[in-house]
Amino acid sequence: MASLLRRPLQFRIIVIPAFLATIALLHFAISNTYQIKNAISYATRPLWDEANGPKEIISHYYAEGMRMDSHACQLHGWKERKGKENIRVMDAILMSSELDLLEIRMNELDSVVDKFFIIESNATFTGLPKETYFANNRARFSKFDNKIVYKLLPGYPLRPGQSAWDVEALTRDAMTAMLREHIRELPSDTPALVIMSDIDEIPSKHTIDLLKTCGFGDSIHLQLRNFLYSFEWQLDMASWRASVHLWRPNVYYRHSKSGNRMLADSGWHCSYCFRTIPEYIVKMKGFSHSDRIGGNMRLLDPRRIQETICRGKDIFGMLPEAYSYKDMLSQMSLDPMTSAVGLPRFLIDNAARFRFLLPGGCCATSRKCGLAAQAAASASEKKQVFSLFPSRSDADVWTLWTTGTGVGIRDIVHPF
Ligand SMILES: *[C@@H]1O[C@H](CO)[C@@H](O)[C@H](O)[C@H]1NC(C)=O
Repeated sequence: MASLLRRPLQFRIIVIPAFLATIALLHFAISNTYQIKNAISYATRPLWDEANGPKEIISHYYAEGMRMDSHACQLHGWKERKGKENIRVMDAILMSSELDLLEIRMNELDSVVDKFFIIESNATFTGLPKETYFANNRARFSKFDNKIVYKLLPGYPLRPGQSAWDVEALTRDAMTAMLREHIRELPSDTPALVIMSDIDEIPSKHTIDLLKTCGFGDSIHLQLRNFLYSFEWQLDMASWRASVHLWRPNVYYRHSKSGNRMLADSGWHCSYCFRTIPEYIVKMKGFSHSDRIGGNMRLLDPRRIQETICRGKDIFGMLPEAYSYKDMLSQMSLDPMTSAVGLPRFLIDNAARFRFLLPGGCCATSRKCGLAAQAAASASEKKQVFSLFPSRSDADVWTLWTTGTGVGIRDIVHPF
C-alpha cells in the first residue's frame, strides 16, 4: 500500500476505475434491490426452508387394464370399500382462464366423476374485471352439461383493507357452501368423495378409481408430476396440494395441507401451460406473482417469453423454487422430455389440437415463434393482445407487437 502511494500515476490508474466501478455497482444495486433480494432469498432457500408437503408417501401401484378390486386395495394397505357402488365423486374447481386444461381434465375424469362443480367470477382475486371464460365457452363442454354445477360469483373492486387472499378465501367458502348444499340432497347413506385441486392439477382417472374402490381414510393428498409450460418440461414430483376428501359436515374446500399422507404419482400438474403468449402476460401481471416482476417490464416482452418457454427457463428470470441444491441445479437446466407416455388420454387422442402441450410442440398452434408468426395471429388472439393495453390504440399496439423487440412495451403495459 505504501509503495502505491509513492507512485501517483499507478495509484490513479487503479483507484479511479475502482471508484467508478463502485459507483456503477451501487447504482446497479439500488436500481435492482428487488431482484438482488430475491436472488439471495432463492439461492439460500435450501439452507433455511424445507418442503412443507405431506411426508408419508404411499407407494402407488398401477398397470394398464388393472382391475380395481380388493387386491388393488391390498397393495396399498387398504381394504375394499363396502358399498362402493354407492359412492359419489365430486370434482370441485375454481375457474381460471385455462380452458384447454379444463377440457383435458374433464375428459380424463368423466368416467369416474359424478359432478363437476365450477365457480367462476367476473373479476380476478385483485378485483379487476375478467372474462368469464367458462360461461363464454360453454358449448365446448356441452357433452358434460348434465354433470356440471356452475356458479358465477360476481366480483367487485377490493374494499379498503381487503386483500386478494381474502377474496380467494371467500371464493373457496362459496365452493364449500355449494358442495354442502348439493351433498345434503343425496340419500343419507351415500358417501361422497370430493377432489380439491386447481384446474391445472389433474388427477389421473385410475387414481380416482382406486380411491373410490378402497377405504383410504378421511383424506389423502395426491402427489402429481410437476410440469412447466407443457408436458415437455418436467420439473419434479413435488406437487402435493391436490387432495381427495371423504365429505363430512366439517370438511371444507381447501388447497392447503390437510394431512400427512400422500399417494405417489397420482396425476399431472401443468403450471403455466397456456396456449397463447398474452395469457402468459396476464398471468405474470396477475396477483400472486406480480411482485416477481419487480418493476422490470422487459420481462413482459412477448418475444422473450416465447424464447423462455421454449427453452424451459424460469419465466421471471429467477432461480427455481427448490429446497435442495441438487434440485436447484437440475431445474436450472431442464432436459426436454421426449416421452409422451403416461399422459392424459384425451391429450394424446387430440394431439393435433394440443400440439403446444406436447414434446417438441413449443412453437405449435398459437404460441407461434418469431415475428412473422405473431403477425399471423387470429382475430381472437389479436383481441386478446389489444385488451392487454386498453390505453393505447389497437393500431399502435399491433405495430409494437409485430415489429418490436419489446420497444415501447414499457409504456404500453400500464403499471399495476
Ligand atoms: C360482475 O358482475 C356483477 C353483477 O352483474 C356486477 O355488479 C359487477 O360490477 C361485475 N364486476 C366486474 C368487476 O365487472
